[in-house]
Amino acid sequence: MEAKMNAIIEKINAALADAERRLAAAATPAEVEQLRIELIGRNGLFPALSREMGTVPAAERRETGAAFNSGRARIQEGIEAAVRRLAAAPAAAAAKLDLTLPGRRWRTGHKHPISIVVDECVAIFRRMGFIVADGPEIESVYHNFDALNTPLDHPSRDPQDTFYFADGRILRSQTSPVQIRVMESQEPPVRIVAPGRVYRRDTPDATHGMNFHQIEGLYIDRDVSMSDLKSVLQSFAVEMFGPRAKIRLRPHFFPFTEPSVEYDFSCIMCEGKGCPVCKNSGYIEIAGAGMVDPNVLRNVGYDPEVWSGFAFGMGIERLAMLRYRIGDLRYLYENDVRFLGQF
Ligand code: DAH
Repeated sequence: MEAKMNAIIEKINAALADAERRLAAAATPAEVEQLRIELIGRNGLFPALSREMGTVPAAERRETGAAFNSGRARIQEGIEAAVRRLAAAPAAAAAKLDLTLPGRRWRTGHKHPISIVVDECVAIFRRMGFIVADGPEIESVYHNFDALNTPLDHPSRDPQDTFYFADGRILRSQTSPVQIRVMESQEPPVRIVAPGRVYRRDTPDATHGMNFHQIEGLYIDRDVSMSDLKSVLQSFAVEMFGPRAKIRLRPHFFPFTEPSVEYDFSCIMCEGKGCPVCKNSGYIEIAGAGMVDPNVLRNVGYDPEVWSGFAFGMGIERLAMLRYRIGDLRYLYENDVRFLGQF
């Protein structure tokens, strides 16, 4: 028998269509709950229709009651299905995110071993009261050679050894010119270290490069003696290489110091016993040093009768090779992350 469309059945059908559309679109449990309250909640549509049922003519009552019951049941089922669907959704999303996969590591960089060693040297000398000074890499011949008491026929001035620009300036061959620049710019006392890059026309090999790094030191005061120099170098060696590190001074010549020494650190590989690295001598050459030549003091206007001092210069690459037991200096310049990543 054809259902006779009375007002109640029309409302039920409209409610069913509305519920179907809204349940399909529902994205949150709250939307579904809102629909439940509106349609089948205590003050919702269906209880209201139920109260209207008494107005339906007797002949339509059966039909209307059946539509009411099945309508309410379909809405109830639709709501339950929607609740299940929304409860499962976060789980489905989580299933795509596999928490057992290893994470992608962010590869952070770090300082180059040369920079690490420079920073360590500077930190050690700062604790002894030195401050950091700086000078240009493109330098005048005056600062790099003349003011440092270097005679005109000194071999290091040769264009075979030093890079000259057309205008007569050079790439500094040592950090020693920073001594001159500092003394020109201030009155004594002076207590500085000057780390930086220097350039020489060397053919690169395991222990030489066309550019490398030095750290220069200069200490000027009244009554400075060779024993002050020795204790500063000895303290540095111990700070850098541990309590058993020893130093050794050997007579040498530099134009800007008198007397001059070359100094060695006890070999950290064999601790002075003798091994291939130190060629069985037990010591490794680190750098030069000495008492500042009175001519250098005069060149910057300091009175050598009042002021005296010492200076030293060390090769940073040498220190890095010893510190990290690197066999060939060229590794430091090849930018190979397999090497650099080890520091
Ligand atoms: N400048 C020298 C060099 O490059 C090293 C050096 C020796 C520096 C003696 C000094 C010094 O300050 O006193 O070989």
